[in-house]
Amino acid sequence: MSPDPLTPYGNRPMVTPIVNAVNYEYASFDVLRQITDGEIDGYTYHRDDNPTVRAVEHKVAVLEAAEDCIICTSGMAACTMVYLTYLKAGDHMIIFHDTYGANYKVSLILERLGVDITWLDADKAADIERALRPNTRMVFLETPSNPLCKIVDIRAVRAAADKVGALVVADNTFATPYHQKPLDLGAHLVIHSATKALGGHNDLMAG
Ligand SMILES: Cc1ncc(COP(=O)(O)O)c(C=O)c1O
Repeated sequence: MSPDPLTPYGNRPMVTPIVNAVNYEYASFDVLRQITDGEIDGYTYHRDDNPTVRAVEHKVAVLEAAEDCIICTSGMAACTMVYLTYLKAGDHMIIFHDTYGANYKVSLILERLGVDITWLDADKAADIERALRPNTRMVFLETPSNPLCKIVDIRAVRAAADKVGALVVADNTFATPYHQKPLDLGAHLVIHSATKALGGHNDLMAG
């Protein structure tokens, strides 16, 4: 983890400062190049990243035992980012009925973009093998589901997904990393509606 740019001498503020800046200045053009090429951590524009948001990303990554984390403006923004990043026309996705309802709306857009979608009941997760296709690129699950608390065995889904090299994405909103770490159970990606238990106070929206 790179040193906090706000505290070059190590005397860190007790409370993470809220940085409102939209743009940043650079010591040299090369520093800007290194940041935009991803060679060093740094900030260029609020939509890409921000020191306050980055502090949250580091903390969530630690909680989920993840390599890294991206904070989005909502849980559905996080889901949509995952779909649009990893799926393309001609791909097939398996998604469980008990995932959060707005995924259905996004699935209609994905179908319009040429992604084939199979919906499976979480009670019948063992049927996943029959739903797999050679072009299945993603299996999207939520466990325990909100609010019916249906359980999907992440390890079993990963074992099936490995047969066709599909990504396993787990929505961990309901359990939170306090109770369950989907990455340790075999998921490739974990997403949250941080608007819920992760935020904890009904006063923020994030994913
Ligand atoms: C399990 C789950 N995932 C995703 C979402 C979507 O999150 P957001 O409302 O932050 O967009 C919700 C919202 O209720 C949810 O309960």
